[in-house]
Amino acid sequence: MITAIQAKADEGMWLPSLISQRIEDMQAKGFRLDAEDIYSINQASLKDAVVMFARGCSAELISPEGLLLTNHHCGYAQIQKHSSVEHDYLKDGFWAMSRSEELPNEGLTVSFLERMEDVTPVILKGYEESMSESERVNLVRRNSDELLKSVTDEEKGLRATVEALYYGNQYFLFVYREYKDIRLVGAPPSSIGKFGGETDNWMWPRHTGDFSLFRIYADKDNNPAEYSPENVPFKPKKYFKISTAGVQEGDFTFIYGFPGSTQEYIHSEGVRYISEISDPHKVALRSLRLDIFNKHMAASQDVRIKYSTKKARVANAWKKWQGEAGGIRKMKTVETKKKFEADFTEWAKGTEYEGLIEKIGDLCREMEIHQYLIDYYIETARSFEAASFAANIGRYCIPNRKDEPVDLTKLKKHTDEFFKDYYLPIDKECFIALMEAFDKNIDIEDKPDYFKAKMAAHGSAEAWIEDMMRSTVYVDRERMNAIGESDREILENDPVKEFYVKMTEWIIPHSVKVQQISQDLQLAYRDYMRGQMEYADALAAEGKGPAEGSKAFYPDANLTLRVAYGNIKGYSPSDGIYYRPSSTLAGIIEKDNPEIFDYNIPQSLRDLYATRDFGRWTDASGEVPVCFIATNHTSGGNSGSPVINADGNLIGINFDRVWEGTMSDIDFDPDFCRNISLDVRYVLFIIDKLANADHLLEEMTFVE
Ligand code: ARG
Ligand code: GLU
Repeated sequence: MITAIQAKADEGMWLPSLISQRIEDMQAKGFRLDAEDIYSINQASLKDAVVMFARGCSAELISPEGLLLTNHHCGYAQIQKHSSVEHDYLKDGFWAMSRSEELPNEGLTVSFLERMEDVTPVILKGYEESMSESERVNLVRRNSDELLKSVTDEEKGLRATVEALYYGNQYFLFVYREYKDIRLVGAPPSSIGKFGGETDNWMWPRHTGDFSLFRIYADKDNNPAEYSPENVPFKPKKYFKISTAGVQEGDFTFIYGFPGSTQEYIHSEGVRYISEISDPHKVALRSLRLDIFNKHMAASQDVRIKYSTKKARVANAWKKWQGEAGGIRKMKTVETKKKFEADFTEWAKGTEYEGLIEKIGDLCREMEIHQYLIDYYIETARSFEAASFAANIGRYCIPNRKDEPVDLTKLKKHTDEFFKDYYLPIDKECFIALMEAFDKNIDIEDKPDYFKAKMAAHGSAEAWIEDMMRSTVYVDRERMNAIGESDREILENDPVKEFYVKMTEWIIPHSVKVQQISQDLQLAYRDYMRGQMEYADALAAEGKGPAEGSKAFYPDANLTLRVAYGNIKGYSPSDGIYYRPSSTLAGIIEKDNPEIFDYNIPQSLRDLYATRDFGRWTDASGEVPVCFIATNHTSGGNSGSPVINADGNLIGINFDRVWEGTMSDIDFDPDFCRNISLDVRYVLFIIDKLANADHLLEEMTFVE
């Protein structure tokens, strides 16, 4: 049997403009609409109800008046910005009871995709075989800039990007209309919106009410405009009708959103580095930090608040990488890819692809040496908070010219921001643990001389940091506040600043090296990608591989709009366990525990449960549904994406994956990869019963 690297059942993040190539398969799996209903440039289609939110999440329109639904964790920064001790919207939630109470958010944007098209000939105009990769890069940049200039129109809010697909075998133009007056409409308390916290993150069974509501405002002609009290709610071309009929195992589901990045077609050496080296090392380094965070956070309420966002950031990838490495091991992805590469090499004899596998393998191994050091730098030196603070002060407050004064206004702002969430004992303990790990896991000849000298002089990381602490200004708020305009010397001749400078000087040549190798790798991968497709077609023609051949390929995610489809389905994470695909409010009540921060729900939710005051938001068993899982292929960036049923109506909001399936960014396994969504009925229940914001429900359109 010949191994093929091709989409497995339910795998794939498809380009909406090419969805006609998949529509038969979608329909065979239950979808009841047509390709034009998904993406059309001639008529309103579902794409017009989906937006990129804050350039990193997805969101969807759910009313004719610009009401927008996304995740709580996507709106988190905005909710936090509006919060203070008097109005703690993170803790208590926020509900605008009228349009005038909706809160503007400077800097927040949402983008509609107007159209996308293949522009490969335009972008490669003037390309010649004899060009080097860096000449090609320059050509692509010039041609792209020219094209972008012709379609961008600031006045109309039109922005555009050109994105490489399949490592630059193809180029697509994406034209967006970007809106800038986006107001916060509602958010549940974090005890609902972040229920389960880090404990449940990336896990099933899940009960997180991960949603928040915003509204798009436009000028009187419905065009994008900066915030103004004169602006009016945006009238969308299309918005989602909401299905309250409920979901069943096996139901067709379709996710429409903006996944950020995947690497489905890389060489076995790349996969080996990620799963056997990079992920385990990064996880181990973060475990050290998280243990220290947890110890101090458990001991003090104040520290817990200070480090909650920091911990969420550290813990999120930490957990994902564990799932990713474990999943790749379980799937034997490295072995499967090796086998495929051997077959490919055999087939490639005498073609332009001969020798390619070996070449990519060599480049990967060459890159790995430098990448390992960069990974260590980021997870150790760059995690020393005081040093990052010193770097920021240098970047933003100290002018380049030596005769200019230190910018004290900015210094005050950065100092306040930094110390608001800083706890020195954590930073010190992390430094010690991380530098010890650095010492142990970096070869002697790769270590910076600065590091070796310091460790030798002090004898231990602990003695080293104690020494730094005696003279640095960067951990002492009062000393920072006492800095005057002419104190640049104090800020620059500081041991913490020195740490930052020396460690950065050490890593820069490695970054340069990685960039150089990346260019060669990019070129080789471009050929390999084409080769993989040709090989698939050759196999299909001989009746040996999957009949679809290269039609089963989809471009890696790159934060452009994609369609993923599958169905609602449970899974068996290990022997003897089977997970059902949906969860209910009863499960929240089971987990509820006032003693455990992550599981302490609002009293009002307990009361609603006790009186079974559920309104019309129940499933067949009379419980309020909360989350469900399905087989859609999603990634980071798909947070907030609409989950759509066979009739094109909204049934949920995507917000996570199960951690046993996070290797889907590299290798999708239909048995373990599940995306996690919030059931829209739980959203409606919270709006209706907990927030009593029925005026929002009146804007929406419901279908059975
Ligand atoms: N795992 C989800 C994602 O990757 C949710 C992250 C936010 N939630 C959290 N508990 N940190 O973005
Ligand atoms: N929570 C992720 C996000 O913010 C989505 C989860 C995933 O990586 O699939 O995009």
